[in-house]
Amino acid sequence: MRPEVRTVDFLVIGGGVAGLRAAIELATKGSVLVLTKDKPTESSTEYAQGGIAVALSDEDEVGIHYEDTIKAGDGLCREHAVKILVEEGPELILELISWGAEFDKEGTKLSFTMEAAHSRRRVLHSRGDATGKEIERVLITKARSFPSISRLDFAFTLDLIVDNDRCIGAAVLRGDTVVNVFAKAVILATGGAGQVFSRTTNPMIATGDGIAIAFRAGALISDMEFIQFHPTTLYFPAAPPFLLSEAMRGEGALLKNVNGKRFMPEYHEMSELAPRDAVTRAIVSEMVKTNSKHVYLDLTHLDKEFVRKRFPVIYATCLQYNIDITEDLIPVSPAAHYIMGGVYTNIDGETSIKGLFAAGEVASTGVHGANRLASNSLLEGLVYGARTGKRAAKYITEEKVEITEIESYPKGIADKPAMLPGDVEKTRSSLRQVIWNKVGIIRCDESLSIAKKWLDKKNAILDMSFQNRRGFEFKNMLTVAQLITDSALLRKGSVGAHFRSDFKSKGDNWQRHTACVRGKGIFSID
Ligand code: FAD
Ligand code: SIN
Repeated sequence: MRPEVRTVDFLVIGGGVAGLRAAIELATKGSVLVLTKDKPTESSTEYAQGGIAVALSDEDEVGIHYEDTIKAGDGLCREHAVKILVEEGPELILELISWGAEFDKEGTKLSFTMEAAHSRRRVLHSRGDATGKEIERVLITKARSFPSISRLDFAFTLDLIVDNDRCIGAAVLRGDTVVNVFAKAVILATGGAGQVFSRTTNPMIATGDGIAIAFRAGALISDMEFIQFHPTTLYFPAAPPFLLSEAMRGEGALLKNVNGKRFMPEYHEMSELAPRDAVTRAIVSEMVKTNSKHVYLDLTHLDKEFVRKRFPVIYATCLQYNIDITEDLIPVSPAAHYIMGGVYTNIDGETSIKGLFAAGEVASTGVHGANRLASNSLLEGLVYGARTGKRAAKYITEEKVEITEIESYPKGIADKPAMLPGDVEKTRSSLRQVIWNKVGIIRCDESLSIAKKWLDKKNAILDMSFQNRRGFEFKNMLTVAQLITDSALLRKGSVGAHFRSDFKSKGDNWQRHTACVRGKGIFSID
């Protein structure tokens, strides 16, 4: 059966901060279609708590923000990408404020909080710990004001359509129908891949689809071993690992082991505000020492009224588990939070495939190096979303791109063996456990090789068909898990968030980046 066909000038896949900001940039350049695989707001952006980093306070400078970002990235940041982030950030934040974004203030001045590895208070926040929700609200409202932007929600992108080495659209599953959307340029803004790990802060949509579909299309993928694990998520066996913002430590919260002993000063000179990877490993070490599944976050010494007002979402959520954060110690443990690697792009969002652009967490611009500085990713979404939109518009004008329609999807899908939903769920759950246990915070050749062997045995699944979105997501998760594992095996050294217990120093050629292209394996690039 021939799929439904739609045509549009620009196809933006993803409706978080990066996708929406790109769409807004494109709104005056042609027709734009924004796809989201779930309801419009369901994204990591919506759940972002701590805030958005920007050098706008009186005590700050873009040069200091640059230095902090480079330091957190542990020698692997692409310096020109960082320069752009910190220099273009302030203007884009002021623009967001002019569009209606309300950030918290002290009197008439913007209020900046502290987060780990920042040397200044530079993180803007909204309604305490609901920063992402505010940014998503403003961008959705702004996008709606342009008649040229339309949306398709609950539209799951299955694959990119590539013809003559050029990306010309995407095949999209909507209910039981496949829609082929043909476009002059395609912007991937599908966010992260935290769901590949059994413990993650990420929402259910974060299954790494953009990375997997770009890989299948032949795009260069890079730095996949660099996964950031957030140190403090609620540890409650029956609950998902709800994030407890780093801003809590920024406001004075302390980490204590299960015996009530504060431990961070023994591990790092910056104590609770050490870089995330250092805090995460210190927590793991304390959990091992005390034979416990968690440590505690302690805010009980802080003013109760201040805590309630500053962290209203966290306060209310923890109460659902009978934890009053103003009175009780909060059990916490780390969880997968952010992927620094992804679809390789230059500073204008161009990928290695013509017509395909990427921005936000799915992209690997090198701006975060081996470890992202807290609260830099919302800023990245704004800055690189806008830049990518600009570049995509220029591309279709300069290259006089026309929409190309081809006979496309589904090709031979009916001939493939189908994986039943029950089998998908069982293997999906095992995958998440294997990747958390063997490719998690502390890795070594032995653990990675076990994961690789497990994944290799599942290779046949990549050639199966599936009955629903969960199945296609699982296929993408399998690909992303393979890319992370292979990259982690290749990097024989510990840099930033990638820690190998069998290679504790940085190792030879550590300044090179890992990269992979379908059919060409894993290799290093500069
Ligand atoms: P997202 O906001 O995740 O949006 C992805 C979009 O892609 C969604 O619309 C989704 O539907 C769509 N999509 C995905 N796959 C498909 C598909 N196959 N087909 C169609 N559509 C698809 N960063 C900060 O800077 N500050 C913070 O305070 C902060 N707090 C965080 C708190 C939490 C709990 C989490 C999870 C992350 C936090 N981060 C924070 C990280 C930050 O939120 C994300 O990196 C950022 O929001 C990613 O934006 P994005 O636009 O790239 O992707
Ligand atoms: C947090 O609030 O701790 C998350 C901030 C981030 O991931 O940048």
